[in-house]
Amino acid sequence: MKVFQHVNDIGDLKATVKEALKVKQNRFAHKDLGENKTLLMVFFNSSLRTRLSTQKAAMNLGMNVIVLDVNQGAWKLETERGVIMDGDKSEHLLEAIPVMGCYCDVIGVRSFARFENKQDDYEERIFNQFVKYSGRPVFAMETATVHPLQAFADVITIEEHKEVERPKVVLTWAPHPKALPQAVPNSFAEWINATDYDFVIACPEGYELDEQFTHGAKITHDQDEALRGADFVYAKNWSCFRDPNYGKIISKDMNWTITAEKMALTRNAHFMHCLPVRRNMIVTDEVIEGERSLVIPEAANREISCQVVLKRILESLA
Ligand code: CP
Repeated sequence: MKVFQHVNDIGDLKATVKEALKVKQNRFAHKDLGENKTLLMVFFNSSLRTRLSTQKAAMNLGMNVIVLDVNQGAWKLETERGVIMDGDKSEHLLEAIPVMGCYCDVIGVRSFARFENKQDDYEERIFNQFVKYSGRPVFAMETATVHPLQAFADVITIEEHKEVERPKVVLTWAPHPKALPQAVPNSFAEWINATDYDFVIACPEGYELDEQFTHGAKITHDQDEALRGADFVYAKNWSCFRDPNYGKIISKDMNWTITAEKMALTRNAHFMHCLPVRRNMIVTDEVIEGERSLVIPEAANREISCQVVLKRILESLA
């Protein structure tokens, strides 16, 4: 595997989840695979879970790890070609990327949507430059439009906790004070659509996601209707995808916060969120701390999803 960005990159999802559960039982079984191989993790944005789980997954496979925080200690990077570089940016990404490729075997990239230009975000301008110019396999650690390591971990978590063969999974928008990217819900929709679960997306009008990810899912603007009979409630905020409001907040309606009353509409559903979460905006303390909350197991499975992805990449280098 040379690029990991979408569910199709991983092959058969059922078989891959099986592989993940096997890896989880013995995470040091492939310790030799990464010997003398170096992972470079490049962060244009902050992280807690991705940083730690990716590093841990690489170490489980015997890899060396280098972490570069682009905004802390590296030269400020220009990303646009043709710009006269007479400002504060000392280096161009077009030199920096191949240089990074000289020092590693695999590159993980975190680069969020900038909300300056929808086309640039949805063309994955930064991530694709790494694919094109690094000469190394590249995987997404949350890019402008996708967060596949999170979605893969979420599917593993649902498989581990489902109590019926075909659970009802609800992705619901919830309020947040800041404009957030669509990457997590995009990938969640893409990956859940690749399962046979009953999938419903609930969001206020104007918050519909890109159909390339949601295609096939039921979409409703009535959260209560969506929650009825749900087995898993995945709450997340995102900003508008649709023009003319791309990247903007058009609602902070606290009636969409996930409360115990909302969870009572479900079939004793598990609560899920990728974290970090704004308590009592997205979800109440009571629900996130409740016994049906899966936020910690989800985060733990980030190590496993990443380990499967790195294993696939290392196998393709061998
Ligand atoms: N869920 C997730 O990706 O967390 P971080 O942003 O902390 O990495």
